[in-house]
Amino acid sequence: MIGVKKIAYASYEMPDVDQQAEYYTDILGLTVTGKEKDAVFLASTIDHHSVVLRKGDHSKCARIGFQLGQDADLDAFEKQVQVQGIKTVRKKDPEPSIADAITFADPKGTVMEVFKREEFSGQRYPNKGVVPHKLGHVAFYTKDAKQMTKFYCDVLGFRVSDWMGDFFSFLRCGPDHHTINLMTAEEDRHFHTAFELRDWAHLQTACDYLSLNGFKMLWGPGRHGIGHNLFAYHRSPNGLITELFAELDKMNEELGYFEPRPWHRDRPQRPKVWTPDPSAANLWGPGPSDEMRH
Ligand SMILES: [Fe+2]
Repeated sequence: MIGVKKIAYASYEMPDVDQQAEYYTDILGLTVTGKEKDAVFLASTIDHHSVVLRKGDHSKCARIGFQLGQDADLDAFEKQVQVQGIKTVRKKDPEPSIADAITFADPKGTVMEVFKREEFSGQRYPNKGVVPHKLGHVAFYTKDAKQMTKFYCDVLGFRVSDWMGDFFSFLRCGPDHHTINLMTAEEDRHFHTAFELRDWAHLQTACDYLSLNGFKMLWGPGRHGIGHNLFAYHRSPNGLITELFAELDKMNEELGYFEPRPWHRDRPQRPKVWTPDPSAANLWGPGPSDEMRH
């Protein structure tokens, strides 16, 4: 099957776009790469944009962009989606740097936008803010993580990296341990959006910089069990949670296990179902604050 190869961008709606754009530029250190009447485009990589902000009556992640491989056939991908009984819409020039996209909704209504990247636009190294390597993953609460996981695997070609119990899945579309997370909950909504940093030193600098600018940690820094990434969570101005992470597990698909790390408890570390105990969430101890759940 034709699978998506990476997350390209996450697109959000919120009441105050200017305030959130200021957070992404001044605090996270992304670059504004475009502005339209109702949208701000921000980036940190070779992609034209990694984040899109649009006005809406409440804060949510409305759409996610996924990139196909250079040799993938977009028409064949569209047929592959339609065979699953899903209605697709073809969009020409939907956003800057994207010429042709297949769009459709996942079962909770988040719009998937799948395309081939033909135009690159490298951003210069910004001189302020956290400046992450890249957009890493988006996590959602959903009424049925099992059903939603099946959708991402069957329609977009994701693979399951790990489950926590039967209610929290970690899905990959490339070497990174997870690009999409799905946790069963009472309602469908955004959980967090994560950006990759270089290493522990970068995470420390980021935590100090966030603190100096009035942002408190909701959870962490710590080291997750599942995925084994260093993590620190804070709330962004629009109310949605941002995670900063480093040292996420990397899958070697040919060998079927994650690249070995000294902090792994399984040797080798293979995809599995984790018992939902506290160390699956944080090997260093403390669990999430109550504020994480709002
Ligand atoms: Fe995460």
